[in-house]
Amino acid sequence: MPDGNAVRSMFAGISSRYDSANRILSGGSDIYWRRVLVRKVAARNPADIADLATGSGDVAFALKRGLGDGVKIRGYDFCAEMLDEARHKQSGGKGNGGIEFAIGDCLNLPIADESLDALTIAFGLRNLEDRARGLSEMARVLRPGGALHVLEFSQPYRWFRPVYYAYLRHILPHLARLATGNRSAYDYLVGSIESFPERDALAEEIKSAGKFSEVSAKPLTFGIVAIHTAVK
Ligand SMILES: C[S@@+](CC[C@H](N)C(=O)[O-])C[C@H]1O[C@@H](n2cnc3c(N)ncnc32)[C@H](O)[C@@H]1O
Repeated sequence: MPDGNAVRSMFAGISSRYDSANRILSGGSDIYWRRVLVRKVAARNPADIADLATGSGDVAFALKRGLGDGVKIRGYDFCAEMLDEARHKQSGGKGNGGIEFAIGDCLNLPIADESLDALTIAFGLRNLEDRARGLSEMARVLRPGGALHVLEFSQPYRWFRPVYYAYLRHILPHLARLATGNRSAYDYLVGSIESFPERDALAEEIKSAGKFSEVSAKPLTFGIVAIHTAVK
C-alpha cells in the first residue's frame, strides 16, 4: 500500500490542476459517478455526513446540492493544499455554502465515536497507507445503522479489460502529463488502479476490517469504478 507522506505531497503538487485533470482523464464520467453516489446516500436519508479524502470537495458539493440545507456535511482530507482548493471553490460557488472543510487523516479521524449517519469516500480508499485501519476508523465513527459509501476504481468487466488497460498504460500518462505537467503522479494512479482488489474481494475486506453487517457493490461504466455500500 502507498506511503502516506508520499501520497500527501503528490496531491499537494497537483492540487491546482486536480479538477481539470479529472474531467479530461475520465472524459467527464466522474461527474456522473458522483451523481450516482449522491443518489445512493440520499436513499438512506442521513442527517449528518462526512466526506472523507474530500480533496477539492466535489463529492461534498454534490451532496450539498443533492440533499439540501437540512443535512450537515463536513469534508476531511489530510492534504492542506487540496482543502484550500475546496474552500476556494466554496467561496466562489453558488449553493456550495455551509460545508465545513477540515484536516482529517482517515487513519485517525478527528470524529467522535458513533456520531455520523453516513460517510462517503471517493477515490480515497485506494490511496490509504493502511486500508484495514481506515475501514475500522470509518466503522468507529458511524452510528449503528449508518452507511459507508465507497466510490473507487475497480476491475472492469473481462471483455473490456484489454481496451481499458491499453488506455491506462499508453494514453492516460500522456494526457496526464499534458493536463498536470506531472506524469509521475499518474504513473502512480495507473499502478494503484491495476493492483486494486476486485469488487467481491473488496466487499469482504470492508466487512472484515470494519464492523459492517452487509456490503453491496454497484459497478458503473463497464466496472471501471464501483460504489460499495456497507451498513454498520
Ligand atoms: C484522488 S483524490 C480524491 C478527492 C475527491 N474525493 C474526489 O472525488 O475528487 C484522493 C484524496 O485522498 C486524500 N487522502 C489520501 N490519503 C488520505 C488519508 N489517509 N487521510 C485523508 N485524506 C487522504 C488525498 O489528499 C487526496 O485529496
